Amino acid sequence: MYQLRQLTLGLVGLSLARCAFATDGESSVKSLKTDTFKDFVTQHDLVLAEFFAPWCGHCKALAPEYELAASELKEKNIPLVKVDCTEEASLCEEYGVEGYPTLKVFRGLDSPKPYNGARKSQSIVSYMIKQSLPAVSKVTPDTFEAVKSLDKIVVIGYFKEDDKASNETFTSVAEALRDEYLFAGANDVAMAEAEGVSQPAVVLYKDFDEGKDVFTSKFDQDALTRFVRTSSTPLVGEVGPETYSGYMAAGIPLAYIFAETPEERTQFAADLKPLAKKLKGSINFATIDAKAFGAHAGNLNLDPEKFPAFAIQDTVKQTKFPYDQTKKIVAEDISQFVQDVLDGKIEPSIKSEPIPESQEGPVTVVVARSYDDIVKNNDKDVLLEFYAPWCGHCKALAPKYDQLASLYANNPDYASKVTIAKIDATANGSIYSFMRNGSL
Ligand SMILES: *[C@@H]1O[C@H](CO)[C@@H](O)[C@H](O)[C@H]1NC(C)=O
Ligand SMILES: *[C@@H]1O[C@H](CO)[C@@H](O)[C@H](O)[C@H]1NC(C)=O
Repeated sequence: MYQLRQLTLGLVGLSLARCAFATDGESSVKSLKTDTFKDFVTQHDLVLAEFFAPWCGHCKALAPEYELAASELKEKNIPLVKVDCTEEASLCEEYGVEGYPTLKVFRGLDSPKPYNGARKSQSIVSYMIKQSLPAVSKVTPDTFEAVKSLDKIVVIGYFKEDDKASNETFTSVAEALRDEYLFAGANDVAMAEAEGVSQPAVVLYKDFDEGKDVFTSKFDQDALTRFVRTSSTPLVGEVGPETYSGYMAAGIPLAYIFAETPEERTQFAADLKPLAKKLKGSINFATIDAKAFGAHAGNLNLDPEKFPAFAIQDTVKQTKFPYDQTKKIVAEDISQFVQDVLDGKIEPSIKSEPIPESQEGPVTVVVARSYDDIVKNNDKDVLLEFYAPWCGHCKALAPKYDQLASLYANNPDYASKVTIAKIDATANGSIYSFMRNGSL
């Protein structure tokens, strides 16, 4: 309760802080040195510290964003500080600073936590506000509107004060996801009614798409976690360094729309939004800047020179479904393609040489398409050589490798237990990513 009062006041303070920054130009970021740092951190519950070097380009890029975040968070009593590591080398060393800028969240001097979010004022402000709140804040009719607008995404649980089970489920989800989303709990029955839900219920509020989503499944931790993840993902988002790992961890496929201009991306996003809405929870849709990240199209077995392009990646099985690049990207056709992929009617794309019709030499020739049969789903032990046709050491090994293979092939007892094989890794690059992605 106290926390939220403070926050509500903070919101009012926010606009004032912006004014103050604009007029007097004095920095809101506190500069600290070895002899002032520890006292300052000890005297404040929560501090964000930037360790920087004056010559560092990324630090210069961060500076205006950090300043803006500091002026907004000042009113909430969350100080942002900075330490010049060229002057305070031993202090920086003590906190394990290895690169610039390094941002760390301090709650006292021990075990600060790295800030790995985006270096944008809004991301910093949103993250630090969540850090300053308990995992679940209480919300009342008076604070409802203010709390709802505190962050891009706010998850509110509506349950009775004595409903321990719902409280525990909600709180454990909140504790696991508190760095990413703001969680609050409301006990007032009338508040639930006003939102058109009956206790226990969860509503996720967001400042995009439908504005809010109501959790309708059984009140359990997995279902609730999935709901928060799904509902907080924009219908058609954008793949970039900040969102990529989230999409990969989502547990559902990702459909990429590669386009070179922002206008095209906006248009495709609008065209495919109804489809994304229909399939929400089964597959994510996102545009991707083909100018900046076009090379990624190659990983999806698309021609990385030809845009716009569309592809689906099954993020669990690590399979890829590139859409025919000679076709136009039209919502109706894409809808059919996506449905066919989801229904398992389309074979995943594998870059592969054709499977040899017969094995000529003693060494078994493997290609990507026969990899599973010969190497994975097979009782025999397999020695597999990854080679390149142009590689001298591979050529030198070849006669000996043939010899070894003959030795095994000519002994029926060995031949039934061991396969000696080779794969042209230049014609078969994706094999490596199969392995990295743990499908072995
Ligand atoms: C959840 O339970 C805790 C501990 O009993 C309590 O302090 C808190 O107020 C409860 N939250 C809600 C929203 O009822
Ligand atoms: C590498 O070899 C395998 C099997 O020979 C093939 O599937 C794959 O497409 C080749 N190269 C790349 C980049 O995938």
